[in-house]
Amino acid sequence: MSPIQQHILELRKQLNEHNYNYYVLNRPTISDRDFDFLMKELEQLEQLYPEFDDPMSPTHRVGSDINKSFTQVEHIHPMLSLGNSYSVAEVEDFIRKAKAGLTGQTMEIVGELKFDGTSISLIYEHGRLLRAVTRGDGVRGDDVTANVKTIRSIPLQLAGSDYPDAFEIRGEVLLPWEAFNRLNEQREKDGEALFANPRNAAAGTLKLQNSAEVARRGLDAYLYHIIGDNLPSDTHWGNLQAARSWGFKISNDIRILNSIEEVDDFINYWDEQRKQLPVATDGLVFKVNNLNQQLNLGFTSKFPRWAIAFKFKAEQALTRLVSVSFQVGRTGVVTPVANLDTVPLSGTMVSRATLHNEDFVRSLDLHLGDMVYVEKGGEIIPKITGVELERRTPESVPVSFVTHCPECGAELVRDEGEAAWVCPNKSGCEPQLIGKIEHFAGRKMMNIDSIGGETAQLLFKSGLVRNIADLYSLTREQILSLDRFAERSAQRLLQGIEQSKKVPFERVVFALSIPFVGETVAKKIARAAGDIDRLMGMTIDDLTSIDDIGPRIAESVVGFFADEENRRIVERLKSAGLQMAIERKAASSEILAGKSIIISGTFDYHSRDEYKAIIEQNGGKNVSSISKNTDYVLAGHNMGPAKLEKATSLGITILSEEDFLSLIGSAPSSAGEQAEQSASAGKPEDAENPIMPDLFSMLD
Ligand code: IVH
Repeated sequence: MSPIQQHILELRKQLNEHNYNYYVLNRPTISDRDFDFLMKELEQLEQLYPEFDDPMSPTHRVGSDINKSFTQVEHIHPMLSLGNSYSVAEVEDFIRKAKAGLTGQTMEIVGELKFDGTSISLIYEHGRLLRAVTRGDGVRGDDVTANVKTIRSIPLQLAGSDYPDAFEIRGEVLLPWEAFNRLNEQREKDGEALFANPRNAAAGTLKLQNSAEVARRGLDAYLYHIIGDNLPSDTHWGNLQAARSWGFKISNDIRILNSIEEVDDFINYWDEQRKQLPVATDGLVFKVNNLNQQLNLGFTSKFPRWAIAFKFKAEQALTRLVSVSFQVGRTGVVTPVANLDTVPLSGTMVSRATLHNEDFVRSLDLHLGDMVYVEKGGEIIPKITGVELERRTPESVPVSFVTHCPECGAELVRDEGEAAWVCPNKSGCEPQLIGKIEHFAGRKMMNIDSIGGETAQLLFKSGLVRNIADLYSLTREQILSLDRFAERSAQRLLQGIEQSKKVPFERVVFALSIPFVGETVAKKIARAAGDIDRLMGMTIDDLTSIDDIGPRIAESVVGFFADEENRRIVERLKSAGLQMAIERKAASSEILAGKSIIISGTFDYHSRDEYKAIIEQNGGKNVSSISKNTDYVLAGHNMGPAKLEKATSLGITILSEEDFLSLIGSAPSSAGEQAEQSASAGKPEDAENPIMPDLFSMLD
């Protein structure tokens, strides 16, 4: 190695150490001036000797001004969220259940702060940061490596040598309060919209196109979860300590807790102390420390059973109720909404709050002009929790509920035993008609992705689509006559509509907007009926004999199909060629026997978990990394380019979703049926089989 190269490496090492001291330890050992001096020297040397440049050099943390759009990357392990708890009792219950699942073993819990930022997955190979990906939809996220490289507390090159060759580390990217306030002050001066809270600011910053601006904003990151083979310790705690020694910022506030009493103390301590922290937190996280125990506990379909989040009690704000508006939803339910004097609450500006229904308004005995307490229910939608009666003025009037629909003027009805007032004008009330079109096109329903709220409105107001059946007679010329559409977008809409004809019957039933029929109920009634004619002919007794279907849902379904207009719409959907029956085929085959199949990307007809189940049902094996032994890649949308290239270079057959379904000789709905059956065998509720097999591989 030449002396110049050696010097460059030495400078990088020093600068990395100083970065670490400054950004991770908060203990700088040199002045900023001296730091800049070293940095300049390195920059000059790298310019003079470009052959020794390295994209991981600390000089590259300043970011670039080049605009780029993000590519989507599939997560190696899905990024799950945590189950929430809101009381000490719920946390205790979680601990008791976890212990019961580990018969007789002693169990340590690690208590951590729950940082309120945006989650990130970092992939390291041979000690270098390879890729940084946002959570996205949990299966795939945005590749934000360039922006993450500007976060100085994230090491580009790890220290030490005892790290695994390849591993993933997850954590939270956040904007400390100080940087957040500075950013908002600047935005105010520049006349730009303010960020509501540090979480939004961090998430927004991470998605900026200009990484130099990202670098300026001062993001930080705490890491809290390592996944990989050959980890140095068999405990979560041990691995976090090791990660700290490799240069990651690991919170100093993590604690091993040995008893429920220690857990309670930890909660009580942080409930108060968190207000002193330099970063936003919205709760605590409790994790089973031992990785084998984590493995034994496994996952529910959504969350690990070895960890739980505890959410701090929401902060309250006091503000004035100015007026009440009434919103009409897709099923005609009228919801009262409070308009408030804008007030800051847990970092956001609140000016509206839901009032749920008439009974809620009455129970608070709300008067216009009242001073009311506002809280963030479940963090997102603010709600009113009380009235400051002493500040009520004598002339104030009680809030009264509207008697007529604010949109169409029809007289509202409220069925006995129901909390909601409903506009009965199903076929003439605009927000209901538009809402139904939007719902029908939704991702979990017919998945016509070019139709969102605005397009539904546009289609409706133009008169082209007055109900969901009209979608299937739209022509290219009609769509092109609309303002927002050009050739390509029209084509996409038509394709989306055409594709929707393959959506399984269960989802068609969900898409119909039958009151009280959500995704799960739709599946149950669709399967019990078998086809639309039988469903339409079902009586209240037939329906209530299905598991979990009570009289309220049954009446709603019968009422829906008794309506002439709904029957006409269903007939038209049938003639348009939608799937109107469950297709029951053999539940399994050996077509894929001996075949190793990789699933990559996102899909139209089934979820990834369903495809895993389908592969297994047909004798195949779902594998997670490509090798020469892989037989097929089941490629959905946005398959990662690296995977595609590797698969192509190894000569592996790439199957589209349709190719795959026809290979196994299955219409989409029959495949769904198989998937459902096998998935339910491993469902978390199933006490015999507490671990979901396909998620188990996450910990491989
Ligand atoms: S552990 C599989 N630990 O909270 C479990 N999450 O509500 C992985 N979060 O998605 C998460 N602080 O974005 C974990 N100390 C912490 C955390 C934390 C913040 C976030 C994270 C997660 C969400 C769950």
